[in-house]
Order: sequence, then C-alpha cells, then structure tokens
Amino acid sequence: MSNSKKRLLTGLQSSGTLHIGNYFGALKPFVDTYEEYDSFLMVADYHALTSLRDPQALHNNIISVVKDYLAVGVDPAKAVIFRQSDNQDHLELGWVLNCMVTVPFLMQAHSYKDKVAKGLDANAGLFTYPILQAADIALYDTDIVPVGEDQRQHIEYAREAVSKFNRAYGDYLKEPTEMILNGVGVVPGTDGQKMSKSYGNTIPLFGSKEEIEKAVMSIVTDSSGERPENVYAIHRLLKPTEELDPIYEAHKGRYGDLKKLLISDLEAFIAPLRKKRNEITDTEVKSVLADGAIRAKTVSGATLLKVRQAIGIAL
Ligand code: ADP
Ligand code: TRP
Repeated sequence: MSNSKKRLLTGLQSSGTLHIGNYFGALKPFVDTYEEYDSFLMVADYHALTSLRDPQALHNNIISVVKDYLAVGVDPAKAVIFRQSDNQDHLELGWVLNCMVTVPFLMQAHSYKDKVAKGLDANAGLFTYPILQAADIALYDTDIVPVGEDQRQHIEYAREAVSKFNRAYGDYLKEPTEMILNGVGVVPGTDGQKMSKSYGNTIPLFGSKEEIEKAVMSIVTDSSGERPENVYAIHRLLKPTEELDPIYEAHKGRYGDLKKLLISDLEAFIAPLRKKRNEITDTEVKSVLADGAIRAKTVSGATLLKVRQAIGIAL
C-alpha cells in the first residue's frame, strides 16, 4: 500500500442502524472521494461499547455496518474496510495518548456533555472516547478525516493529542485535518435534535418503506404555519434548494403533504441501496473484515513500533 497518495480514514460506531445523518455527514464524503486517496474505513465497535451493552445487538450491528459500507458503494479492493476490535494497536495507542491530555481538556468535549445530558451513562470510556478516536486516526498516518459537523471538535482533539505527543517525544505522529461537507451541517432527527443512533430519533439509511413513513410522519413541526424546518432540513439533502423552495412555497402550511413528498424522495433514494444491500451475505462481510484486519495491522504496526521506541518501552 505504499504510494504517494494522501491517506483518508473515517469510522462509524456500530451502536445501532446507520441513518441518513451518518450517510450525508460522513459516508457520502468518503464514498465521493475515497478513490483519490489511500483509504481506510473502520467499524468503531469499541466506541460502540460506550453506549451499548447488548452483546447480540453489538454483534449484529458490526455485520450490519459493513453491509452498509458495501451497499453505499465502497469497494473493499480499493479501501481497507476493517474493524477497530480486530486490531489491539488502537487500545495501546489510545492509552498512550490518554496520558498526553488532561481531564479538564476532555471535560470541554461537547459530544460527551450532550450525550450525558441526553441520559447516556457517563462511563469513563465515553469520557475518553475522543482519545481512542485520536488513536484510530494517528495509527494510520491519516491526512484527512471525513466526518459530520458534530465531530469537528473530535478532530481538533486528535490534533491536540498528537501534537502533545510530538512535543514530548519528537515528530512521530501526523496531525489530521477534517473534511466536512459544506451545507450538510448537523442533520436533525425526528425530534429536531441531532439525528443519532443513540437517541432513537433516526431515519434509517436502509429502512423499509414503512419505517421511513413512520419516521417521517413523526418528525416534530412547529405550528407557525411557515416552513416546517425539520422536514426541510432533511429534504434539502435530497433535492437542490432551487427545486425545493418553490415546492415548499406552494405547500405552505400543508405539513402532511410536504412530509409525503419527503417520503417519496427518500424512498426513491433508498430503494436501490436497499436492494443492493439485501444481496450482501454475512460470509462476504466476514471475509472483507478478515482481509481488512491484515491490511490495517500492517500500517498500524509500523506506527506503533515508532511510538513504543519513542516512549521508551521498546527494550
Ligand atoms: P451516531 O451519533 O448516530 O451514533 P456516529 O457517532 O457513529 O453516529 O457518527 C458517525 C459519523 O456520522 C460521524 O462522522 C458523524 O459526524 C456523522 N453523523 C452522525 N450523526 C450526524 C448528523 N445528525 N448529521 C451529520 N452527520 C452526522
Ligand atoms: N467517534 C466517531 C463518532 O462517534 C466515530 C469514530 C471513531 C471515528 N473513530 C473514528 C470517526 C475515527 C473518524 C475517525 O462519530
């Protein structure tokens, strides 16, 4: 894999079913650009443990996320598709980087505060999760990380952890840059808050027609009679605003009709993906992950060796 291309890496947690926020925030920018880079796409299953304590669900989600990756068009011959827990280097570098940052620094993380405010368990894993993420990124000498807007701060955290390490030991790790698509922002869920697997407010990326209908019909709208912003915010991901605005103008105040139009646009977008996904077998997923684990370890092992030498534990 040694070539002069820059390295691209992103990951999604296997904490639930992927949703359209995940797609437009992270997967689409990855899919649209990954062939120009030396690309890695990870299943963040250790991260999922911060919010999910159901072994069967975690197991199913891991398989499911890989199917999603393949169904949205990532070719495993052109990107390394792997999962975090197949490579213990992530935990080791995560520990080392945890020792570089302070508790008050981690306490500033919006995502941690938001999740705890939403009632998620404030476990220590959730608290240090940006640093495991920093390790995921730094292990692969990553240049660019496609993520959604909500993850901007975590990439800053990764830069900070890496630069603290480099200041202490020398220039060993690469500082990454985020790739955040303009105009996507934070996709709202059916309750108007950030759409998130752990908040139960999603429109599933591969949902059945009935699931999409149910989710869209439950989107909360205000009663001002103006544009239903939470509906519009999702709709504009599927249609250019020049096309969408006149439709919303013509249906002013008719929220039910606008929701039906959104359902039909979502269905047109999702149906072909769903069809492709149904053809992917568990066996295929396992073989993609087995291959990805080997390819990932080849790269991360070299970084970790340098780190072990730098910190003084390589005897
Ligand atoms: P979730 O919050 O649903 O568990 P993850 O934390 O696994 O999602 O996020 C995976 C990727 O999807 C990240 O790059 C994140 O920024 C992006 N993402 C998640 N939710 C949204 C959203 N509502 N809008 C835009 N991007 C999102
Ligand atoms: N923490 C990210 C999220 O919740 C998922 C993630 C884990 C990730 N490791 C990563 C994203 C590395 C980009 C790069 O969205």
